Amino acid sequence: MPHPMLTLGIETSCDETSAAVVEGERRILSSIVASQFDLHSRYGGVVPELACRRHVEVISQTVESALDEAGVALGDIGLISVVKGPGLIGALLVGVSFAKALARSTGTPLIGVNHVEAHLYSAVMSNMPAGAGEGIEFPAVGLVVSGGHTMLFLMEDFGQYRWLGGTVDDAVGEAGDKVATLLGLPYLGGPLVENLAGGGNACAIDFPRAMMQRGNYDFSYAGLKTAVLYHVKGYAGARRDESVVTDAERADIAAAYQAAAFEPLVTKTLWAADEFAARSAVVCGGVSRNQTLRAMFTDAAADRNVRVYFPAKALCTDNAAMVAGLGAWRAARFHDEVTDDFDAFPNFETFGSFEGYRDPRKGRRKKAQ
Ligand code: KG4
Ligand code: ZN
Repeated sequence: MPHPMLTLGIETSCDETSAAVVEGERRILSSIVASQFDLHSRYGGVVPELACRRHVEVISQTVESALDEAGVALGDIGLISVVKGPGLIGALLVGVSFAKALARSTGTPLIGVNHVEAHLYSAVMSNMPAGAGEGIEFPAVGLVVSGGHTMLFLMEDFGQYRWLGGTVDDAVGEAGDKVATLLGLPYLGGPLVENLAGGGNACAIDFPRAMMQRGNYDFSYAGLKTAVLYHVKGYAGARRDESVVTDAERADIAAAYQAAAFEPLVTKTLWAADEFAARSAVVCGGVSRNQTLRAMFTDAAADRNVRVYFPAKALCTDNAAMVAGLGAWRAARFHDEVTDDFDAFPNFETFGSFEGYRDPRKGRRKKAQ
């Protein structure tokens, strides 16, 4: 007999094939993340076609492992929740097609959810374990910082968002990965930049903080990336060969980069908290694993009436537990969303009760849907 409280989550939006079983809206029974790190590392970035092929290869086994680890059978699952976007379209289609086939063949209800909202939900799962209304207080400000996204929302409640801003060029996680490459670190260097920065002096170099006008909630990382490039190449001072950058200088560059990358995130999130009288700030996505970012947020919020919440570390990067939890949460409230009549979508789209989205990369207003 299906257990109405058990949700199987499936996530294939980028380079992680992930499946998880969640009881109710929050209790994680299993969470399997099959990383494709080995596949993409030699290319220095995610190769979409390879990612899709790998998803096809491992998705069955990943779902099987999630069920096994949770100690449940497919017949026990009461709901399947899958990410329908945004992400790499081919990669999304693998998860969506698999979930639709599984739902149809087993008669299990299905819901498609938004990946960005799932990141926001990861903080709810980690910080509101005892039930709705505890932990995070609303209105809250929500910041999503990952390899693909840098977005700031006002969350009037969970499920009710107002778009405040986003990056006009690169995402902060992507910038960190590029800086890592400039510093000679291997693929997926964000965490390695963090380690290197631990031994450096953040004040040694004054890299630019972009778009720091009050009331502007957009972000930009292209200029910072270029500034680091010029510095490493020696254009900033005496012209030097890249190979003569010492370890101490690399550590200083890493630390100074992090300070310049994170300051706009912290400052603008807290500006938004002030402007909208938010009591909580929710910071999530892969980059929210970063200890320096966490410390900067906690320090800056300490003398204001704002509490900052982060997801558990395992829930910061892409995972299906947040997808299962969000699916269960939405299915309980928005019954018409429980359907297999949906498409995968590559670009960020409005979701839930949401207003005010404009694509900052295009610089024009999009109507809320
Ligand atoms: O959320 P995520 O797994 O995928 C996307 O939805 O994009 O985020 C991955 C990103 C990568 O850019 C990775 O370098 C970054 O998160 N990241 C970090 C850290 N851990 C992961 N960046 C800085 N410091 C970290 N500790
Ligand atoms: Zn993500």
